[in-house]
Amino acid sequence: MPISPARSVAFEILLRIEKQNAYASELLHSERLEKLTPADRGLAMELVMGVLRWRSRLDDAIAAAASRPLTKLDAEVLNALRLAAYQLQFLTRVPPHAAINESVELVKRAQKRSAAPFANAVLRKMAAAKTMRGQPPANDVAAASVAREYSHPEWLVARWVAQFGQERARQICEFDQQIPSTSLRLENEDAERDLASEGMVLAPGILLASARTLVGGDLTRTRACAEGHAFIQDEASQLVAALVGTGSRLLDCCAAPGGKTAALAWRNPSAEILAVELHPHRAELLRKRVRAANVHIVQADALNLPASGGFDRVLADVPCSGTGTLARNPDIKWRLTPEDLNELHAKQVAILRAALQQLTPGGRAVYSTCSLESEENEAVVEEVLREAKDYRLLDCREELHRLRSTGELMWDDLNSLLSGPFLRTIPGVQPCDGFFAAVIERRGG
Ligand SMILES: C[S@@+](CC[C@H](N)C(=O)[O-])C[C@H]1O[C@@H](n2cnc3c(N)ncnc32)[C@H](O)[C@@H]1O
Repeated sequence: MPISPARSVAFEILLRIEKQNAYASELLHSERLEKLTPADRGLAMELVMGVLRWRSRLDDAIAAAASRPLTKLDAEVLNALRLAAYQLQFLTRVPPHAAINESVELVKRAQKRSAAPFANAVLRKMAAAKTMRGQPPANDVAAASVAREYSHPEWLVARWVAQFGQERARQICEFDQQIPSTSLRLENEDAERDLASEGMVLAPGILLASARTLVGGDLTRTRACAEGHAFIQDEASQLVAALVGTGSRLLDCCAAPGGKTAALAWRNPSAEILAVELHPHRAELLRKRVRAANVHIVQADALNLPASGGFDRVLADVPCSGTGTLARNPDIKWRLTPEDLNELHAKQVAILRAALQQLTPGGRAVYSTCSLESEENEAVVEEVLREAKDYRLLDCREELHRLRSTGELMWDDLNSLLSGPFLRTIPGVQPCDGFFAAVIERRGG
């Protein structure tokens, strides 16, 4: 029996994520998907993201129907089961027999022929029971039940309950389980007109005047995107770039894929901008995406920057866990461990220390992450500033007031964007990714 290209590609991607620790966001933008028809590409993406988003609930349902523990199943069998389970439970337009038969074929094609009758029996039992849809949300919002209801690791939800309270933790989880909207940053009015003429339907942004929300259309194939006048970029990420403000020499020390570098270049057209990225393939991606003439891109380590100071604006948008972006990157929640947070903290402290040394007296650095975890946020800034007496923390409130007074920031409730002196967006509280930012000034100047 033939297997549809969408299911075949989705299965391959899920296996690579599981066996090679590959990133969904990279695989879903690879050539493998480009070759599919738009309809198949859409279904493949939906299947991969759906399985990753709901993985623990799918596993619970599979375990309830299976005669052996999931830990005893080969990755190929388990992922074929998850793929069908997601379709059975969440996609009303897919006929159950198509979901079941194709997953059984995937098991056979993966050289696991002896497991095919088992897979078939489990899926038919699930199709008959169909236990997951339509359950009312649990009233009990303790971490364990929120984690189970919204398919998140319990340790992560327990941290959010402790940090933000039960209701906020639930809002975050609920937001993570929805397909996020696509936000754009437009560089001029022509871009908006061009997009409309190519059939894109846009709505205003929610946080920023220069942002738009894509309501309909395939943006990746438009001229405004190809020519670099429209960028897909979450509004919280746009807000962090706005916080950096303007200067004459700017350093972006962790720059790829370049969303913020491009925004900095647009805001600072006559400044000199140095954009640094550690990984060669990501530096290449940065070169493709950011073509502004005033941006100089270098592949280097932020701990050993190819510069000798004198920057009046520095952005350290450091590598982080990404727990503020789980709606876009659901694979992260299954990969991350509590120990990773300590390792990330150490790396972030080192990068921020190196970044601050590049500031000229009176210059300002923005430290940012797309993480919700305090080890990667407040704790990094506090640890670095404890020993760096030449630097002081500024209150983001003043910067937000400035952006509000120029009309760039449209969000009225500034308090909800702040946590003490820091900028913090929370998915589900604001309709965007969870970002953290601190503004640090070098004394003197
Ligand atoms: C959070 S991402 C930056 C996102 C980017 N600022 C944007 O808005 O598109 C962090 C980047 O830092 C890079 N990176 C990690 N360690 C680094 C280091 N030691 N030096 C420079 N770049 C590093 C990662 O490869 C990754 O591309």
